[in-house]
Amino acid sequence: MTIDELKRQAAAKALEYVRDGMKLGLGTGSTAKHFVELLGERVAGGLKVICVPTSEATRAQAESCGIALTTLDDVDRLDLTVDGADEIDPQPNLIKGGGGALLREKIVATASDRMIVIADETKWVAMLGRFPLPVEVIPFGLAATRRAIVEAFAQSGVSGQMAVRNGSDGHAFVTDGGHWIIDAHLGQIPDAPRLAGLLSSIPGVVEHGLFIGQASIAMLAGSDGIRIFERP
Ligand code: A5P
Repeated sequence: MTIDELKRQAAAKALEYVRDGMKLGLGTGSTAKHFVELLGERVAGGLKVICVPTSEATRAQAESCGIALTTLDDVDRLDLTVDGADEIDPQPNLIKGGGGALLREKIVATASDRMIVIADETKWVAMLGRFPLPVEVIPFGLAATRRAIVEAFAQSGVSGQMAVRNGSDGHAFVTDGGHWIIDAHLGQIPDAPRLAGLLSSIPGVVEHGLFIGQASIAMLAGSDGIRIFERP
C-alpha cells in the first residue's frame, strides 16, 4: 500500500467519529485533504455538518466539495477537529506546520472539544524533533527574535540549525497570517512542553509547531492496519 493510500485509510477511520449536526475543524495538508474529500462525499449524501477550515487551501477545497463553512466568530466551540501532523509521539504530542498552517491549526484545535490526528505510520516517533520544528515569526526584528529562540533552545537543552523557510519563488514563505516561518533542525526535543512554553513567551514568535496536550486521539495507518492512541 502506498503512503497516500495509508493517509486515506486514516482519514476514513476519523470519519467514523463524525456525527450529524457536528461543528468540525478541518485540518491542512495531504492527509487532511483526504478527510475533506471523504467528508464532502458524506455531505453530498445528506450529512449535515458545519466546518471551520485551518487554511485558505482547505477553505477552497471544502467549498469545492460543497461543505458548509463558518468561522470561529460565528460559532462558540467546535465538537471535533481532524488534522494531520508531521510527527506524533506516544503522548500523543505533535509537531505540525510543515505545510505552514500551524497558527490557524492551533487556534482551531484549541477551540475544539476533541482533536483527532490522522497520519501514516512514518509520522510516529518515540521523541519529537526529527522533523524540523516550525516557528512562525513576525518579520520585524527577526534577528532579535532569532536570538531569543536560540536562548529558549539552550534553556530546554536543545540546539540546531535554523533557517527561514523559502517559498517556491525563492523568497521567504509567507503564511496565511502574513508571517514568516523559521525551521529549526533540533534532532530531538527531550522536554517538548518546556520548550513550547519558552517559545510562546517570545514576543516576536507568533506560534510554534509543538502541539502539546491537544490531540485526544492519534490514528496511524500502517501495513498492519490502523493503530489508535488515545490520550488517557
Ligand atoms: C500543515 O501546516 C501541517 O501542520 C500539516 O498538518 C502537516 O504538515 C501534515 O501534513 P501532511 O498530511 O501533508 O503530511
